[in-house]
Amino acid sequence: MLSKKLEKALNDQIQIEAESSQVYLSMASWAEVKGLEGIAGFMYGHSDEERMHMLKLVKYVNERGGHAKISTLKAPKTDFVSFQKMFEELYQHEIFVSNSINDLVHVTLEEKDYATHNFLQWYVAEQLEEEALARTVLDKINLIGNDKGGLYLFDRDVQQITVESAASNTAGE
Ligand code: FEO
Repeated sequence: MLSKKLEKALNDQIQIEAESSQVYLSMASWAEVKGLEGIAGFMYGHSDEERMHMLKLVKYVNERGGHAKISTLKAPKTDFVSFQKMFEELYQHEIFVSNSINDLVHVTLEEKDYATHNFLQWYVAEQLEEEALARTVLDKINLIGNDKGGLYLFDRDVQQITVESAASNTAGE
């Protein structure tokens, strides 16, 4: 059985994952109306992943005798200065999510709930991958600068940038 404190912390994370899904959905929609189809596809995919992160938490909380509460979500911003700035915001958002996962893991130790501690290791690993992916995308964006041809290729190829290629890019760090 989850402690009340941990149940509340898990519910807060459910909200953060759901809001993350909305943030990336909004980015996808902005990119789509700007004609950046590849970027839109990348963001739609990312939005789906966040929904999956949220659902996994919902099911876990309910399985452990808690009640996953589905709440109102903060509206994401709908306009972006540029696609470069949008990816910078994605990276900052992932850092925010990583911090909230770390705080949540800390609560599991305070509450001595080692099953939840174990369950959350998947999220810890996932955050490392998502941060690496975001950094790889930002590196590519910096390489292109304002080159139009580069943007065309980036938009065409961004969906092929995977966590695996990000991991091999950062392995030498
Ligand atoms: Fe579910 Fe991208 O954090």
